[in-house]
Amino acid sequence: MPKAHDMMASVVTDEQARQDYALALRMHLYKVYGMSMRSFFEGPVTRRFEKKHRRPPQTHSEARRALDEAAPYKFWSAMMRDAQRQLWDSVADSIDRDRPTVTATYDRLHANARGSVTLKPGLKMPVYIDALDHHCMPGGYHTDLGGDDLRAGAMYDFGGAMYMRAISTTSGGQLNDGRGHSIAGFLFENWPGFKPTRILDMGCTVGQNTLPLCQHFPGAEIVAIDVGAPCLRYAHARAEALGHKVHFVQANAEKTDFPDGSFDLIVSQIMMHEMNRPAIDRVFRESYRLLKPGGIVAHLDVPFRFEHMDLFEQVGATWEQYHNNETFIEGLCRVDFAGVARAASFRELKIGYQKSIRDPIKERTPLKDRPSTDGRYWLIVSGVK
Ligand SMILES: C[S@@+](CC[C@H](N)C(=O)[O-])C[C@H]1O[C@@H](n2cnc3c(N)ncnc32)[C@H](O)[C@@H]1O
Repeated sequence: MPKAHDMMASVVTDEQARQDYALALRMHLYKVYGMSMRSFFEGPVTRRFEKKHRRPPQTHSEARRALDEAAPYKFWSAMMRDAQRQLWDSVADSIDRDRPTVTATYDRLHANARGSVTLKPGLKMPVYIDALDHHCMPGGYHTDLGGDDLRAGAMYDFGGAMYMRAISTTSGGQLNDGRGHSIAGFLFENWPGFKPTRILDMGCTVGQNTLPLCQHFPGAEIVAIDVGAPCLRYAHARAEALGHKVHFVQANAEKTDFPDGSFDLIVSQIMMHEMNRPAIDRVFRESYRLLKPGGIVAHLDVPFRFEHMDLFEQVGATWEQYHNNETFIEGLCRVDFAGVARAASFRELKIGYQKSIRDPIKERTPLKDRPSTDGRYWLIVSGVK
């Protein structure tokens, strides 16, 4: 597999074989067995529940518990978790073997950088970040092995690119940048003349979806924050490798050190589903503080809203919470985003489902009120200061 850019670790044949196996296993379990779980839920699981309760399951937790008690679902969940672990193990093989080359590439790109990386040693990690390894990635986003450690960033970038090989190209291909293009499409569609001069991307990880903002808003100064130092170092060199100038800063999106009114556009992309509820409120309030009057916020996340899902879909959406260390998905499915945005003083709210696109100039798509099956969608919550 050709490398997507200079910072990505290389792969040797044995690693490739192991990665292909782990990916195929994970996708087969997800797509083939996962989908067959619907008829299992609607048939035997519901009949068993009805026998006991004289009615079908009515709530998400009833449906989830009924499935979790059923041996085939338990087995499938265990296999999925194990496949996820195998995926990360197979990625770690390449990252750890190629570390000297990736480190040398970092040193070269950092020495000649147009952008920057500013770290804040001692920044207190939010509990929802350091209490567990998100989606079972060993060490999570924040574990810093010392020196100019890049491991978490290298793992995330490589793992994401691998995963993208297995799903639709509208999600961004190996660069895994579909969210950035989609959010640009949302902005072009709704504010055609909007030309932000200073943009903040919150929870950027390795900047995969920060870079489309550079592409679609040329001339704007782009700042991207995250709590994880190894991700930010890697993001910095990755942006340089791909020819983009970004200022990466280690900061907690709930409360940053930027002065009031520093930006005219603030975005986040799949950050909120990793946060607890108080943190989501604080991120909206911080976004408001950081925007100039008339500035726009657009927080994009996974398209899971319980009010638009049947019981089986609800259980599917929260599988990651109970089996893949994504602790706050269920909370996200229930958040009243309009209430949160209004409480933070935002006006002109736009909340809906944005189709995942690769080319925001050619593929403009309006926000939808309901999810749709004609492609991949993201949830967007936006407002104006
Ligand atoms: C799933 S990743 C998002 C990746 C990236 N935005 C993208 O679309 O490719 C979530 C990121 O949010 C970061 N994050 C979570 N809580 C944060 C907080 N309070 N402040 C800053 N970053 C945070 C995590 O460290 C992680 O890197």
